[in-house]
Amino acid sequence: MKWPAYCLGLVGTAWAAASSLQVEKPTVVVITGDILGYLSPCGCTKPMTGGIARQATYVKKLQSQARVVLLVNGAFVSGNSKQDALKSQALAETFGALDAAAINLSPEDAKLGMGGLLSIQNLCRNKLATGSIEPIAALPIRANAFTNEFAIGCISTHPENIARPLGARPIPASRAITEILTYAKSQESAPVLLLDGDLEEAKSIAVSHPELRLIVYRSTSDSPRTELRIGPTMLVTPGQFGKSVITLTYDGSAFGQYQVVPLQPEFKDDAQVSRFLHRYLTEVDRGGFLDRLPRRPSEPFAGSETCGKCHAAALKTWKHSKHAQGLASLEAEGHGRDPDCVSCHVVGLTAVGGFSSRAKTPDLANVGCESCHGPGARHSLRPHQLRMPKIGTQACTKCHNAERSPGFDAATSWELIQHH
Ligand code: HEC
Ligand code: HEC
Ligand code: HEC
Ligand code: HEC
Repeated sequence: MKWPAYCLGLVGTAWAAASSLQVEKPTVVVITGDILGYLSPCGCTKPMTGGIARQATYVKKLQSQARVVLLVNGAFVSGNSKQDALKSQALAETFGALDAAAINLSPEDAKLGMGGLLSIQNLCRNKLATGSIEPIAALPIRANAFTNEFAIGCISTHPENIARPLGARPIPASRAITEILTYAKSQESAPVLLLDGDLEEAKSIAVSHPELRLIVYRSTSDSPRTELRIGPTMLVTPGQFGKSVITLTYDGSAFGQYQVVPLQPEFKDDAQVSRFLHRYLTEVDRGGFLDRLPRRPSEPFAGSETCGKCHAAALKTWKHSKHAQGLASLEAEGHGRDPDCVSCHVVGLTAVGGFSSRAKTPDLANVGCESCHGPGARHSLRPHQLRMPKIGTQACTKCHNAERSPGFDAATSWELIQHH
């Protein structure tokens, strides 16, 4: 059979090889996870990668062409605030809609507590699993997951971190692995392990349990570009923040055609998952999380227009810079009231008297003069007596950090916005 052009375009050369060999349509395994709350594309520099709406587009197109087994490993969120709970729900809905085969419960997500997990379990259609705790009556959660061809073990190398927040008894990893291997043997299915553990732990499990066909581990680095095998076991990681997904084919006995697919803007947003995201952002707005952020006392702010009354040239330069559009950029993406984003896109969000909303503090919206120079209301009243401090370009990196502005160079960037 011939692979549809769409697939070839998406996953590239390895699949083209499959088509020329006229092989049967293989099972495609897609691996994602460790989204860690990054529902939207990550970073602020174009091209932004990732985002669950792009991921959904990719998975759904594959599903229309092949049998897809979607595996999710790692944490949905990194904290357990109310906003994290909302994020975890949007993720659960997404993986439910994508018909994930298994979602390995992480220690981070266990901290969402019984209520949080019940809601996730419901929204993801009971795909959350963990073999790391003894069953508890209050939480319907399976130890493992199964498909036609795979027995999927879901375990942590630190089961106590899952057990503790749930008041459950931990099951040691060695016992959980033995159980999945025994089951796989009885079903004649291929054993796969979703592991809350790092590469070193995955390697030692692969060495001690060569029956395992695949181990998905967690890593703070991006997915390796080439496949990694220990004996017959393939080891893969989705990296962090959902920037890319991994695809593999399974031919009935082994995994192959390892491929890392970065979720770049060529993947449009899936409409259904965009609705989940939109609902999440609406709830963040309605929940008033931005209004309840802790704030430090500070000197009073004046607002950029006030500064411009005496520094007309600086105001003019600033108005033509992207800083003057900082909040609008967020609003265009639906994140205008999202505490994850606003602090770097306005003036003084964490200070008493800083930005609160476009309506109440219009002159503190966007990255204004005082985002860099600090509060200047007193200077505005008595400029000669109360001078503004020198700030230097180290003022830039509190926002232009490695995560949000990779490769930022203060000297060349300053050329673009300099105003004296
Ligand atoms: C009422 C007019 C006025 C307003 C309003 C005003 N400034 Fe100034 N600013 C001055 C004058 C005059 C100086 C020069 C002070 C001096 O040299 O004694 C100055 C100096 C500065 C300097 C240089 C500091 C130095 O000592 O070299 C900076 C930076 C600055 N202002 C930023 C701001 C910012 C930011 C705002 C708004 C928060 C602002 N100014 C509002 C009049 C004003
Ligand atoms: C740590 C500070 C920080 C946080 C937090 C932050 N941003 Fe940004 N954002 C920046 C910086 C700095 C830039 C400019 C980056 C550049 O051009 O290198 C930027 C640029 C952007 C842009 C404009 C990109 C373009 O080129 O048009 C968008 C859109 C954006 N951010 C969205 C977001 C969203 C959505 C969030 C929250 C999920 C967020 N930002 C959180 C600092 C931040
Ligand atoms: C993105 C950060 C940033 C923004 C936004 C910004 N400035 Fe500046 N500004 C600087 C830096 C950095 C300098 C260089 C002097 C220093 O290091 O203190 C400077 C210099 C100045 C100076 C000259 C000071 C001197 O020593 O000669 C004035 C006046 C000034 N800014 C006013 C403003 C006003 C008014 C606005 C808003 C309309 C504004 N700035 C917006 C970062 C910024
Ligand atoms: C309060 C956070 C913050 C600080 C401090 C800050 N920036 Fe920015 N900067 C942003 C954001 C947000 C954007 C993106 C605005 C947009 O596109 O909506 C941006 C965009 C820019 C851009 C435009 C990038 C492009 O793609 O054209 C330049 C240049 C820049 N900043 C330089 C600087 C320099 C130099 C400093 C320090 C003197 C500085 N910034 C300090 C938040 C900040």
